Amino acid sequence: MRQLDSKKIVVATHNDGKLREIRELLMPYGLEATSAGELGLPEPPETGTTFEENAYTKAFAAASATGLPALSDDSGLEVDALDGDPGVYTADWAEKAGGSGRDFGMAMRKVEDLLQEKGATEPARRGGRFVAVLCLAWPDGHAEYFRGEVEGKLVWPPRGTRGFGYDPVFKPNGHAQTFGEMSSGEKHSWEAGRGDLGLSHRARAFARFATAMLEPA
Ligand code: IMP
Repeated sequence: MRQLDSKKIVVATHNDGKLREIRELLMPYGLEATSAGELGLPEPPETGTTFEENAYTKAFAAASATGLPALSDDSGLEVDALDGDPGVYTADWAEKAGGSGRDFGMAMRKVEDLLQEKGATEPARRGGRFVAVLCLAWPDGHAEYFRGEVEGKLVWPPRGTRGFGYDPVFKPNGHAQTFGEMSSGEKHSWEAGRGDLGLSHRARAFARFATAMLEPA
C-alpha cells in the first residue's frame, strides 16, 4: 500500500456536512486540509455505478487539479426492502426539479413512501445501512480505498436536527437515537489511536484510513 508522504491534502468534496466530519476526524493528525469546494474546483459528474468508482472520480479530479494527494468520500444509504436503493444515487434522490439544489426532506419522504408501498412498517423490514468509501488518490492516478458501513433501521417521522442528509431517519442498531439526534462526537464514536472502528460509516472508513496511512506501525 502506498504511504502518504505529504502533510497537505485536499478533501475532494463540495458537501459541507461531509467536509465538517472529515475535518473533525483529521484534526488529531495535524494534516493541513483544504477542500475542493473552497478551492473552487469543478465538481466532476458522478457517473459510476459503485461507491468506489465515484470516490475515485472525485479524488483523482482534485489530485490532478492541485498536484496534492486528495481524499474523497462517496457514500450513501442502502435500504434492504428497496433492493439497496438509493445506494450510489442517494444524493440524486434529493435533487430538486430543474436542478435548483437539494431537498433532503423530500428525499427522506421518498424513501418512506416506497417503504410504505412495500408494506415495510415493522422495524424488522426497515433495515439498511450507510456506506462510505474513502479514496485517497495521487496526481499520478494511484489510489487506495477504505470502506466503512453501519447497519441500522429507517424510522419515520424524521428525528433530530443535527448532522446532515438522511441522518434524521437513520437509527443505528443498538442505539436509541437517530444520527440526527446525536452530536457529531456520538455519531463518530471514534478517537484517534483508540484501536476500534467507531460508529458511523464515515468514522469506520476513516479509522481504516488512519490506521493504514496516519498511524505509523
Ligand atoms: P455523494 O457521496 O456525494 O454521492 O452523496 C452521498 C449522499 O448520501 C449525501 O448527499 C447524503 O445525502 C447521504 N449521506 C452520506 N453520508 C451521510 C451521513 O453521514 N448522514 C446522512 N446522510 C449521508
